[in-house]
Amino acid sequence: MTPIVETLEAWTSYRRDLRGSGRTIGFVPTMGALHEGHGELIRQARIETDFVVVSVFLNPTQFNNPNDFSKYPKTLDHDRSLASDAGADVIFAPRNEMLYPDDYRYKLTETDFSKNLEGEHRPGHFDGVLSVVMKLFNLVQPDRAYFGEKDFQQLKLIEGMVDAFFMDIKIVGVPTVREPDGLAMSSRNALLSSDGRKKASVFYQTLVQTPTPAEVSAKLKLEGFAVEYVEDFEDRRLGAVVIDNVRLIDNVSIKNTI
Ligand code: PAJ
Repeated sequence: MTPIVETLEAWTSYRRDLRGSGRTIGFVPTMGALHEGHGELIRQARIETDFVVVSVFLNPTQFNNPNDFSKYPKTLDHDRSLASDAGADVIFAPRNEMLYPDDYRYKLTETDFSKNLEGEHRPGHFDGVLSVVMKLFNLVQPDRAYFGEKDFQQLKLIEGMVDAFFMDIKIVGVPTVREPDGLAMSSRNALLSSDGRKKASVFYQTLVQTPTPAEVSAKLKLEGFAVEYVEDFEDRRLGAVVIDNVRLIDNVSIKNTI
C-alpha cells in the first residue's frame, strides 16, 4: 500500500531523499474523496514520470461557502487504495494548519480571468487555489503536474501562474472522465440523492446538445436546476448549476460541434 506522509518535517526529509536519485517527479494535487477522474491523472503521471506524488489536502482557503467545506466528503482510507491501485508512490496529506503558517496573510491573486465564471460566483476561490498550488509546488518540486480539464478555468490559471513566475514545471491537462450517462465525475456527486443523481446527467447532455448558452440555461431551469452561469469562452462552453443543494460544474469543447 502507498505510504502516507503527514507532516512537513517528514515530507521535507522524504523529498530530500528523493533528490539525487535522478528520478522525474509527477505530481497530482487533490482534495481527497478520490474517484476515477483523479485515478486517470495518477495513471497518466505513472506513464510519464518515474515517481508519482499525490497530495490530499482539503484546502480551506478556496471554499467561499463554509457549508460546502464542512460537508465535503472525507475518505482517506479509500483515497489511499484508489491512489495505490492507480500507481501512486507516495501520498502527501499535510494536516490543516501546516500549509498556512502565515494564517493566509500572503496570497496569490490573478486579477483578470480569475474574476469571471467561477470567480464571479465564488469570490476569493482562485486566490485560495493558486496560493495552495504554489505552496504544494514548492514543497513537492515536481517536473510535471497533472490537472483535469473538468476544472478548465483552474487549469488555465495554473498554466498562467507557472508562466508568470517562470516555474520550471510542465502542466499537463487531462480530459474529463465521465460516468456512463455523461455526468462528469466529481467528489461532490456522492452528496446527490438518488433522484438528484438521475437528473444530474441532464446538465452535461444539455451543454452538449443545445445551440446557445441562453437556451442551455432556459432548458436547465425548466428541468429544476438553479443556473449560476452558462457561457461560451473561446472554444469551450462552461457552466455551473445547483441541484439538490449540490453545486456542479462542467465544460465541453464546442469546436466543430455546436
Ligand atoms: P479536486 O477537486 O480534488 O481535483 C483534483 C484534480 O482532479 C483537479 O486537477 C481536477 O480537475 C481533477 N479532476 C476532478 N474530477 C475530474 C474528472 N472527472 N476528470 C478528470 N479530472 C478530474 O481541483 C482541486 O481538487 C483543487 O482545487 C486543488 C487543485 C487540489 C487545489 O486545492
